[in-house]
Amino acid sequence: MEFASVKELLCKAQEMGYAVPAFNVENMETVQGVIQAAEELNRPVILQTTPSSVNYAGLDFFAVCARTAIRNTRVPIALHLDHGSSYELAANAMKEGYSSVMIDGSRLSFEDNIGLTSRVSELGNLLGVSVEAELGSVGGKEDSSISESVTFTDPAQAVEFAERTKIDSLAVAIGTSHGFYKGEPKLDIKRLKEIRAAVDIPLVLHGTSGVPDEVVKECIRNGICKVNYATDLRNAFTKAVRLSMEKNPGDIDPKKYLGAGREAVAETAKKRIQLCYFDFSE
Ligand code: 13P
Repeated sequence: MEFASVKELLCKAQEMGYAVPAFNVENMETVQGVIQAAEELNRPVILQTTPSSVNYAGLDFFAVCARTAIRNTRVPIALHLDHGSSYELAANAMKEGYSSVMIDGSRLSFEDNIGLTSRVSELGNLLGVSVEAELGSVGGKEDSSISESVTFTDPAQAVEFAERTKIDSLAVAIGTSHGFYKGEPKLDIKRLKEIRAAVDIPLVLHGTSGVPDEVVKECIRNGICKVNYATDLRNAFTKAVRLSMEKNPGDIDPKKYLGAGREAVAETAKKRIQLCYFDFSE
């Protein structure tokens, strides 16, 4: 099976009123755990890798690993570059067969973000690869970078940004942040509704680990079509590996503790998939 088109997955989600969960994967076990969850629930999902994971293992490793893992799946699975940090990285991901890339120009000025995003979008359109970009800035710790500042997405700017860049989906900053939350996050749903009313492409929520389920549902009801999870899976994986090592200190077979991590990833991903498709039955 080939990687699914994210544009198609998200347009269908927008039409039907659910969201497609996107999970950050970091090794073979997280890839397999997420795919196992998608298969068991028969729901499409997006696998995504950040620049630091790409630095760790390589775009080619993830493309081959994911392609092998989906060989016998029945559900559509996409492979996406999360927070692509440069034109070159986005182009290389496309070359390796990723079906979608995010180009993250959120730290740039509005005009520079449009310039960079437009170049990637043009290439994506040419090669049939979906392109996501961010306007405003989701704060917190993502990958190896920490951003203290959060700038909420301006609905009027979002219209201009989407029109000029011709992107397929837009990541919005409405109060979420990457990594663990200190308190309960306060999301600006009114702003999300304004962006939804103004822009017709699918909207993406970043920083979703730690956002209460009811709030995630409210975001989906108000136009979010892709929901990103990273910290939740890392947390589940690491806790399970640690517990397995504590319980079996003499065990030196990595398959034992990494296998426990893979099961924990599958269980966590299943819960998030059920949440994202909460209102949807075929
Ligand atoms: P969390 O780590 O908060 O789940 O954020 C994930 C994310 O948005 C990846 O782009």
